[in-house]
Amino acid sequence: MKRYALITGACTNTGVDIVEKFASEGKNVVFTGRDSNKVNTALENYRAKFPGVDIKGYAITSLLDERTVNEQAVVEMFADFDKKDMFIETVVLNAADQGLGIEIFKNPITDFMRVINTNMTWNYCICENAARRMKENGGGGIVFVNSNTAYRAIPDRIAYSASKSGQLGMMRAMALDLGKYNIRVNAVLPGMIKTDRWDKNPEFYKTVPSRYTPIGDVAVGKDIADAVWYFAEHARNTTGAELTVDGGNTIQLYPIIPEK
Ligand SMILES: NC(=O)c1ccc[n+]([C@@H]2O[C@H](COP(=O)([O-])OP(=O)(O)OC[C@H]3O[C@@H](n4cnc5c(N)ncnc54)[C@H](OP(=O)(O)O)[C@@H]3O)[C@@H](O)[C@H]2O)c1
Repeated sequence: MKRYALITGACTNTGVDIVEKFASEGKNVVFTGRDSNKVNTALENYRAKFPGVDIKGYAITSLLDERTVNEQAVVEMFADFDKKDMFIETVVLNAADQGLGIEIFKNPITDFMRVINTNMTWNYCICENAARRMKENGGGGIVFVNSNTAYRAIPDRIAYSASKSGQLGMMRAMALDLGKYNIRVNAVLPGMIKTDRWDKNPEFYKTVPSRYTPIGDVAVGKDIADAVWYFAEHARNTTGAELTVDGGNTIQLYPIIPEK
């Protein structure tokens, strides 16, 4: 049986840094994305960069529609792992519906359901399938890539904030129920990360208040990947824990914005 880390939503942005961290440490990786072309392109890139590591990509959609999680796709993906004698010893739940621009008086309730179903129910489904195998194989680790918006709200992101707060409750409850099987469940809480959205919208990010952190900068994907790696590989006696990686942003009462 070969051991792998499963990393969701890893064709772009932070997911790529997490895959590259695990691969550079010599870990076999399975990653997911929803679009098979994007998955194949990412797979080619990863394999070219890490020729000595076993990397596989799976195209998998989270939802059948806003109200319905694609549970069957998760079940089939794990059945395929079983068939190939692959054991997922680490799960990193990185994919997320950002729930951008969902306004309380404008958007239909199905937009709220879409975000909750992806960020909570679909992730629960992946955890259930993974933990079942971890229990049979001596244990494992689950890491949620959460958000500091689980605690501090930002405008027009009710569904996203609710999903990330709910994720933390789910993380702690899973840690409690799965500890006896040597399965650790933890969460990394990024603040703002320099993703491609940052590059595409420099005017917005030049003045956004959350860039003013005590550290004086926001995270890059590698910062998040390092924190995920800590939980996955080093935190032997840590479960149900949170590690905030936001430059100290949420310890402030308000951001200190220089006058010039
Ligand atoms: N960026 C930030 O500033 C920031 C701040 C705090 C927390 N976070 C958290 O950090 C993680 C990574 O952030 P990121 O900005 O790198 O993420 P991202 O690029 O917005 O999304 C990561 C991946 O999630 C997948 N995804 C999006 N909607 C999905 C859906 N409905 N079902 C399944 N997959 C879906 C997408 O993959 P495909 O399109 O390839 O399927 C996407 O590449 C996320 O959990 C995010 O909530 C980010």
